[in-house]
Amino acid sequence: MGKDVIIACDFPSAAHALRFLEQFGDERPFVKIGMELFYSAGPNIVRSLKQRGHKVFLDLKLCDIPNTVGRSMRILRELGADMVNVHAYGTIKMMEAALEGLTRPDGTHPLLIAVTQLTSTDQQRMQNELLIDRPLEEVVLQYAANARAAGLDGVVCSPLESVAVHERCGSGFLTVTPGVRFAAAQPTDDQVRITTPANAKALGSDYIVVGRPITKAEDPVAAYHRCVEEFVG
Ligand code: C5P
Repeated sequence: MGKDVIIACDFPSAAHALRFLEQFGDERPFVKIGMELFYSAGPNIVRSLKQRGHKVFLDLKLCDIPNTVGRSMRILRELGADMVNVHAYGTIKMMEAALEGLTRPDGTHPLLIAVTQLTSTDQQRMQNELLIDRPLEEVVLQYAANARAAGLDGVVCSPLESVAVHERCGSGFLTVTPGVRFAAAQPTDDQVRITTPANAKALGSDYIVVGRPITKAEDPVAAYHRCVEEFVG
């Protein structure tokens, strides 16, 4: 899989998601199913979007004891998603268990990505609420290195951190980056570490995950095409 734009389908039901995707006609964008849609529509939404020809990033951000995460990944691997994720915060042992659970008998597995620090978190919140005193970028890089040590394929991080992650973990280690907005004037919503699709490309992101700038646009298909043009070129 090469550079791509992933649309975050943060919708309250399968009907909403399917209605949204109908606007794309025969086009089959790479989509992300997060907790909201998965909890309302259930595992079948993954199967049905795969059947329609979409690539699917199942963004459930697992974080629990290694045994629970490993066993849950064993279930998720049957759904046919192309990419799944965990929180790196769960430690190397948990990420290793996740990878083991996700690996099929033939040794292949969907891409497994670790969330470093959410792109809605900033230095101050991390210090005051999580009691992590190190610079945010250092935390992101340590979590990325842990994910790599556990054998994962990459991390979710801010596009602003892609360069440093690739320097630390190698250019083949994927950076999947939310926190994308078209221009400074656009609402940032709850995101704080953000940039544009063009800049994400310049910074070496492998995938951008774009939600509200597409889903809430007056013309979502045009907004998606603009993202693809700027990011993939
Ligand atoms: O609407 P917006 O473009 O902000 O959506 C970004 C998407 O990426 C959301 O679905 C959010 O859950 C997800 N995400 C994120 N930051 C992370 C991991 C996932 O924003 N670190």
